[in-house]
Amino acid sequence: MTPAATASAPTPSASYNRADWASAFRNVVSELSAVSLNAARGSVPPELSGCLYRNGPGRLERGGRWVHHPFDGDGMITALRFEGGQAQLSNRFVRTAGWQAEEEAGRFVYRGVFGTQKPGGALANAFDLRLKNIANTHVVRLGDQLLALWEAAEPHALDPDTLETRGITLLDGVLKPGEAFSAHPRFDPGHHGERRMVTFGVKAGPTSSIRLMEFAVADDPGSGVRAGQLLAERRDSFRGFAFLHDFAITPQWAVFLQNAIAFNPLPYVFGQKGAAQCLASKPGEAGQFWLIPRPGSAAAERHPQPLRVPAPEGFVFHHLNAFEDGASGELVVDSLYYADFPSIGPDTDFRSVDFESIPEGQLLRCRIDLERAEADPAGAVRQHWLEQRCCEFATVHPARQGLEPRFAWMAVAERERGNDPLQAIEKLDLVSGERRVWSAAPRGFVSEPVFVPRPGADAAAEDDGWLLCVVWNGARCASDLVILNAADMGEQAVLELPLAIPHGLHGSWVAAGA
Ligand code: CO
Repeated sequence: MTPAATASAPTPSASYNRADWASAFRNVVSELSAVSLNAARGSVPPELSGCLYRNGPGRLERGGRWVHHPFDGDGMITALRFEGGQAQLSNRFVRTAGWQAEEEAGRFVYRGVFGTQKPGGALANAFDLRLKNIANTHVVRLGDQLLALWEAAEPHALDPDTLETRGITLLDGVLKPGEAFSAHPRFDPGHHGERRMVTFGVKAGPTSSIRLMEFAVADDPGSGVRAGQLLAERRDSFRGFAFLHDFAITPQWAVFLQNAIAFNPLPYVFGQKGAAQCLASKPGEAGQFWLIPRPGSAAAERHPQPLRVPAPEGFVFHHLNAFEDGASGELVVDSLYYADFPSIGPDTDFRSVDFESIPEGQLLRCRIDLERAEADPAGAVRQHWLEQRCCEFATVHPARQGLEPRFAWMAVAERERGNDPLQAIEKLDLVSGERRVWSAAPRGFVSEPVFVPRPGADAAAEDDGWLLCVVWNGARCASDLVILNAADMGEQAVLELPLAIPHGLHGSWVAAGA
């Protein structure tokens, strides 16, 4: 089942072997339940108490045919539970309708958004515009359920302990059937009194609309509010096609970056391309920030309509964070910028991607002068690089969500310049610029690091905690869970998992008792 033999393109960088990187593209073949793990090196901190949930594509091949892009792979949830210095591993596929139909058929029954076609060529695929909700992008806890998220449709609800799929959820009637629900919620640590899950759904077209939603994350017996209850929402429409994968929040604002890309649906409708392959950047055009005041905030009183501000040229999937700089009156947004939209060609094999030919992500800080934003939007943004080393999956301490952070942690390439697979985790001091790096090179490939605060630690000690990261170990052809000390980036423990998890997407930490 390993496709490594097909990956023969030259490797431009000495830090990795392409076959090692490509060996992670495979099917997950087992579903484990609470398997005890031993540390191969180091030890699990006894105070680490809770569960790391991760999501990502777990099924990349059916009936001898491979997905065109791994993002078309079915969502598989990994749960790593920690208590008293012990660790346990469970994993389950999300039982989506598409997964069940294709398991039964033994072949792809649906087209994928990223170009996977049903057998039979364009004729068999033309006019089949059914979306396969593959629930593969992120997993978060809301109330008594886990939500497996995929941005183009509703979440799937799972049991947080057994990972059993309960089914599609409309969140107590908040969503309409089929309604888009982002895979990038942000957890407001309490800027409005209580913790909230802030998220959005996008309806994209010639005119696009954003539905901003804020949910309670805990029961409040005093007010009768229940975890998962919708506390506030608003809807805004604007002209132009919107591809919005992520956003950022501050106490008063929800920050969106509308990339300058166009959508030509015809090759999709006629069965030649997946929907995401019909996206193309508009050369010479820049995107724009949409600053939407959060319901009930002072900004919402001053600005009934969203503010539109031109953004620097480039393409953004993910943001690190945003905050309001009280001293300067600026709104500051830190984003992972690519020089161009990395389009997915119809004939390319995802395993032989030429890293040299596609732009790397780099961390850019934009300072938006809110006073000028209305009178002179073109002159309202100042920008500078925070990190030019190839980076992705950047995060801050959860208590700094929406506030100015001191530190950021992110997945980076081993090389300091140029585009390569992500092999290391970097701690970046946003004030001094000091960097500390833990590396899995040459045979390891990192995924998104998840920050876990040390229980009872002063939140002001922003780096007092651990980073949990699933690492593809090319030497073992399996996955490791690496625990790093977030302050000095020293290796705390390495757990060799009895599971091979393909390169994944997003995950979250749920503290015990939370
Ligand atoms: Co994402």
